[in-house]
Amino acid sequence: MRRAKISVIGAGNVGATCAHWAAAKELGDVVLVDIPDKEGVAKGKALDLVCCGPMEGFDVDITGTSDYADAAGSDVVIVTAGLPRKPGMSRDDLIETNVKIVRSVSEKIAEHCPESIVILVSNPLDAMVYTAWKATGFPTNRIVGQAGCLDVARYRAFIAMKLGCSIEDISALLLGGHGDDMVPLPRFTSVHGIPVSQLLPDSDIVECVERAKVGGGEVVKLMGTSAFYAPASGSVQMAEAIIKDKKRILPCAAFCEKEYGIDGYFVGVPCILGANGVEQVVEIDLDAGEKALMDESVSHVKDLVRIVTEMFPDLA
Ligand code: APR
Repeated sequence: MRRAKISVIGAGNVGATCAHWAAAKELGDVVLVDIPDKEGVAKGKALDLVCCGPMEGFDVDITGTSDYADAAGSDVVIVTAGLPRKPGMSRDDLIETNVKIVRSVSEKIAEHCPESIVILVSNPLDAMVYTAWKATGFPTNRIVGQAGCLDVARYRAFIAMKLGCSIEDISALLLGGHGDDMVPLPRFTSVHGIPVSQLLPDSDIVECVERAKVGGGEVVKLMGTSAFYAPASGSVQMAEAIIKDKKRILPCAAFCEKEYGIDGYFVGVPCILGANGVEQVVEIDLDAGEKALMDESVSHVKDLVRIVTEMFPDLA
């Protein structure tokens, strides 16, 4: 049987950690791609990971390269290329540099991996998903952004910490953009089926939502650079759903044409992820307060797309 192939663009913190999780889960062969100046880093990290195989018991090929031809035939491409945040920066401060990077990367993906499903991780995420869609020319089901998996995981972790119970038992859903723009849906949060509202006061739930919103910033402040373990874990969770055709329902930045009243933008919504990428956007009824927050989040996505198209008119 043919092994799946996953290429990770950017061999920095997030990219190398994606390669690590993907290899550890034996999702398939992994190709770690970086710019020619960093080819040694990509090759070195790949070699270092290969040598974990005998101890960790995974058996996949891991290659480091700066040649996109090595990514040919990839089933999934995870894009982590771009600058990370420094303390005091918002994700939006990265827009001009990262659009240029993600655009050039996307053109290479279209050339060498024309059948792949592309998972965007670079920030600001909502602008990068749009850029990759335009620059690859791929159908919308094959372009998807990782933000919701991470945001919801942070929220689940904080709820579990408050309750002093296992993270595994927290089930939750969030919509909207990454971080500050997320739309919390506490009424869909449960602890092994028990509504969280029966176990925690509202003030604790709000505290967990607010901490999840700025969870990325909290890590940037502590480390001086963006988080990478959890963003990579979220990306590989999505890659796994696609490669194994699991039809998982995960919150992702996906193209909405009419769902949630959105007219042609990539927004964080629950999706069914399987072998065809985003196989369905799952629509749920929102109450008036949630709808207002969703509209606000969508308007920020529209602002980001407008900034991209004003900077780069040919991406319109
Ligand atoms: N092609 C391939 N790799 C590139 C390119 C390119 N055109 N341009 C930059 N890179 C590589 C860099 O050389 C670097 O190795 O992307 C890598 C980025 O790694 P880090 O600087 O460690 O950044 P990281 O923390 O991994 O974050 C990457 O993910 O979560 C987001 O906000 C984060 O936008 C940031 C991205």
